[in-house]
Amino acid sequence: MRAAAKSLHTGRLRLEPVRVAHAAEMFPLLSDTRIYEHLHFKPPATLAELEERYRRQEAGVSPDGVERWHNWIVRLEADGGACAGFVQATLHTETTGDFGYIFGPAFWGRGIAFEACALALEALWADTRLARLFATVDRHNARSLALLSRLGFHRVSSKEYPHGRVWSSDDIFHLPAPPRS
Ligand SMILES: CC(C)(COP(=O)(O)OP(=O)(O)OC[C@H]1O[C@@H](n2cnc3c(N)ncnc32)[C@H](O)[C@@H]1OP(=O)(O)O)[C@@H](O)C(=O)NCCC(=O)NCCS
Repeated sequence: MRAAAKSLHTGRLRLEPVRVAHAAEMFPLLSDTRIYEHLHFKPPATLAELEERYRRQEAGVSPDGVERWHNWIVRLEADGGACAGFVQATLHTETTGDFGYIFGPAFWGRGIAFEACALALEALWADTRLARLFATVDRHNARSLALLSRLGFHRVSSKEYPHGRVWSSDDIFHLPAPPRS
């Protein structure tokens, strides 16, 4: 099965569908513990673990065939083509899914995450039948809350979240698809 995501570009960023080969570049970036201050999971323990994760993601679909996975590695055109982070969407059905992102601390505060997420969202609305996306965020994660707000997400009750259980410290954000012609 081919990866669901396709390559995307802005002036300064390239979003590449994830490949196993990205793991070697992403492992040091994802090992920075500052990233996990407000997350409910830990850095990948080994390079092999990250390679295995990317091997699964590269398929673009869950093993049971139910979920579609769009995973992009974000690369800068400048800075020697460094990997800055990733953006992902998990489509639980054709019309609804979860949106997420992680960037290395060296790339925070430069509008890179916003630019990458906005581009990924544009592609998701154009290339899928998604009607809405959700994001779950620890309510103390100020940077992520600001980013979601800039992207147009708004907070909804956890009762409106259709994709399973929510951590008590998380808020739920929702973004409807723009009108399609
Ligand atoms: C959440 C996260 C992606 C936000 O990154 P970020 O760099 O703050 O987000 P943005 O790309 O929107 O950048 C905004 C900042 O860039 C600045 N900026 C500079 N140039 C900019 C531009 N051209 N456009 C927009 N903002 C720009 C803004 O002023 C803002 O600065 P500030 O942080 O001093 O307020 C990042 O903190 C992260 O990866 N955290 C760890 C993982 C995580 O928590 N993931 C989310 C789980 S829910």
